Amino acid sequence: MRVLIAKDYEKISREAAQIVYELVRRKPNCVLGLATGSTPLGLYRELVKMHKEEGLDFSNVKTFNLDEYYGLSPEHPQSYRYFMNENLFKGLNIKMENTMVPDGSVKIGELEQYCRRYEELIKQAGGIDLQVLGIGGDGHIAFNEPGSSLGSRTRLVALDENTIEDNSRFFDSSADVPRFALSMGVATILEAKEIIFLATGAKKADVVAKALEGPVTSMITASALQLHPKVTAILDEDASDSLSRVAFYRFAADAEQKAGARLF
Ligand code: F6R
Repeated sequence: MRVLIAKDYEKISREAAQIVYELVRRKPNCVLGLATGSTPLGLYRELVKMHKEEGLDFSNVKTFNLDEYYGLSPEHPQSYRYFMNENLFKGLNIKMENTMVPDGSVKIGELEQYCRRYEELIKQAGGIDLQVLGIGGDGHIAFNEPGSSLGSRTRLVALDENTIEDNSRFFDSSADVPRFALSMGVATILEAKEIIFLATGAKKADVVAKALEGPVTSMITASALQLHPKVTAILDEDASDSLSRVAFYRFAADAEQKAGARLF
């Protein structure tokens, strides 16, 4: 895994945006996997800037989001569809019909088929070229809470109490946070051709160390990223504080510059 430690949030966001930029330039009809939450906001701001100032063209790009609260309609201000429209899609020249976010208002009886269809759409698009991920306080990627099978696919999941508490900052109170979500599975995520994993802040330090350097376990679903051949973890100094191999990561990042190649 490439582990890059950046000074601050701006640098993390720019580093991540550069990876997306290069992909979109190289493959204008690429497929991006996207996350919500506070961590990727800086990356999305950078992408909007790259579109506006450098003409980065998203007109043939397709996107698939990781997850959506179950029970919220796409118009709900706390829905992930609304978040994506406001924080990214509106600022790009992407076609809205090329942006896929799971629909949290699908009827319960139709969910299984809906989730299977979501996976099929990813396959039909040629698979996800680059997946953006954050990490939850309990080690989740997407909404794959501790105990989620590492072989899981897109499905309805129950949210962990920690996640409800963490995400209550976006709602009036924790009672308003939905208890369920639709989420890509761990196995779905691992099929992406490349992954950018972002984490910031001291609160994430211990869980980041478990994910990147601990055993692969369904109790920290982000640890499954160790099984993927092309992951770039981009961390700020606070989030990297509990890692045991920081000196090596810095050395490898330096060596990359000299080699002029990315070292996974
Ligand atoms: C959001 C998602 C989640 C978040 C995670 C971190 O689509 O899939 O796994 O990435 O909960 O959230 P923040 O960035 O708000 O700390």
